[in-house]
Amino acid sequence: MKKIGVLTSGGDAPGMNAAIRAIVRTGIYHDLKVFGIQRGYTGLLHGEIKEMHIASVGDIIHRGGTILKTSRCEEMKTEAGINKAIGILEKNEIDGLIVIGGDGSFQGVNQLGRGNIKVMGIPGTIDNDLAYTDYTIGFDTAVNTVLDSISKIRDTSMSHEKVTIIEVMGRHCGDIALYAGLAGGAESILVPEEQYEVKKICEKMLQGRKRGKAHNIIMLAEGRGSAAELQKEILNTTGIESRVTVLGYLQRGGVPTAVDRILASRMGAMAVNLLIEGKSNRAIGIKDNHLINIDIMEALMKRKIFDQEMYNLSQILSI
Ligand code: ADP
Ligand code: F6P
Repeated sequence: MKKIGVLTSGGDAPGMNAAIRAIVRTGIYHDLKVFGIQRGYTGLLHGEIKEMHIASVGDIIHRGGTILKTSRCEEMKTEAGINKAIGILEKNEIDGLIVIGGDGSFQGVNQLGRGNIKVMGIPGTIDNDLAYTDYTIGFDTAVNTVLDSISKIRDTSMSHEKVTIIEVMGRHCGDIALYAGLAGGAESILVPEEQYEVKKICEKMLQGRKRGKAHNIIMLAEGRGSAAELQKEILNTTGIESRVTVLGYLQRGGVPTAVDRILASRMGAMAVNLLIEGKSNRAIGIKDNHLINIDIMEALMKRKIFDQEMYNLSQILSI
């Protein structure tokens, strides 16, 4: 192993820079040459590959986004795209590639692993939707960002006695809504993993009103439906007007939390060490605060188990 490459792919996530920094510095520490590939798989397919040095990753540990930039790349999903990518990596004599991204990006890693280049996947996505790992890089920051928004919205919701629906990201995974909703004391949490009835939410709201509680926060995961739709349903059922806040990209950016920076640093270093050991096709993860690495195909096959206990707790605490 002499030359390794790193790229970020899919949605950006806070902590990706800390992972890039760890990869570059661990690699250089072990006398490897480290190359940064710009703009995810799109940049790889265009040969946008540049050597990185210790200073290339100075002053980035605290920054959100990704200095390497990222993309979603349709061409990479084709046989021709994969072969082209392998050809470009071989032409640049890259022996090992580390990809920081979500499950889609890992599919790409898995395909690239067919060639002679050794490959590693680091989970970087705010969604926390990869089943093999307890947490993905960026999730903790996103939850804290959402929590900060809930606190602000709560002030207005309370002052004006309003019902507020907050729609958060997460794709098909309800973790952002669940964790932030529980921490923020939301009255209802709607996630894709759980059925809900508008009638029940409305009953809870009306019961609260009888007790003198006129404001209400409803956390809605985007995978469960749209906030605008829910707003209409609540109005039709109760006659109560609600306000909608769709947090959108607010959740993807921002200064990464200590948890994300530490996780990213540990995972980045581990990915490099595994490449040096000659390993390939591994997905790095964390289970019970211990770093793990498993076969990337196996990682992709696992189905995420929803944290029912936490969901039930959120229901009890918001009666
Ligand atoms: P994430 O990695 O955050 O889940 P996406 O699902 O958008 O984000 O995937 C990121 C990129 O990974 C895609 O734009 C594409 O370039 C690549 N990718 C996704 N699925 C595949 C696949 N089946 N084979 C090869 N590459 C893929
Ligand atoms: O995967 C991260 C994520 O932010 C999801 O939560 C969301 O569904 C999706 O990306 C949005 O993607 P885009 O930025 O392409 O609209």
